[in-house]
Amino acid sequence: MTDDELLQAARAICEQAYCPYSGFSVGAALLDDAGNVHTSCNVENAAYPLGTCAEAGAIAAMVASGGKRIVTLAVAGGETDRACPPCGGCRQRIREFADANTRIIFRGNDDNWLTFSMDELLPESFQL
Ligand code: THU
Repeated sequence: MTDDELLQAARAICEQAYCPYSGFSVGAALLDDAGNVHTSCNVENAAYPLGTCAEAGAIAAMVASGGKRIVTLAVAGGETDRACPPCGGCRQRIREFADANTRIIFRGNDDNWLTFSMDELLPESFQL
């Protein structure tokens, strides 16, 4: 699974997003340590805080299937390529199953594709 293929998977699942309130669809695709790929999209709710991010769904799918660690995670925003850096909460969610060098790929605020390591994206992170 190449980075491009992972990004394509994130783009594809974006189309399943349920985002009637924000209109901002997000797709996430992750490659786990067993070589499996898990995808998900954001699922919003009329009670806004109950909405879930795409990354949360992909991580839940990995855990449910027995995956332990994230090797690479790609995030895509919108049907077209909109900037979609993982939100702060999702950085912590990813951290739970990441190593320092887990790679996270997304489109940055300057409309360029970026690859960060976990430690770059969330330095000095809280861990138990
Ligand atoms: N969203 C994600 O799915 N992941 C992120 O990392 C950032 C934000 C979603 C949540 C909400 O449904 C929409 O994007 C707009 O904030």
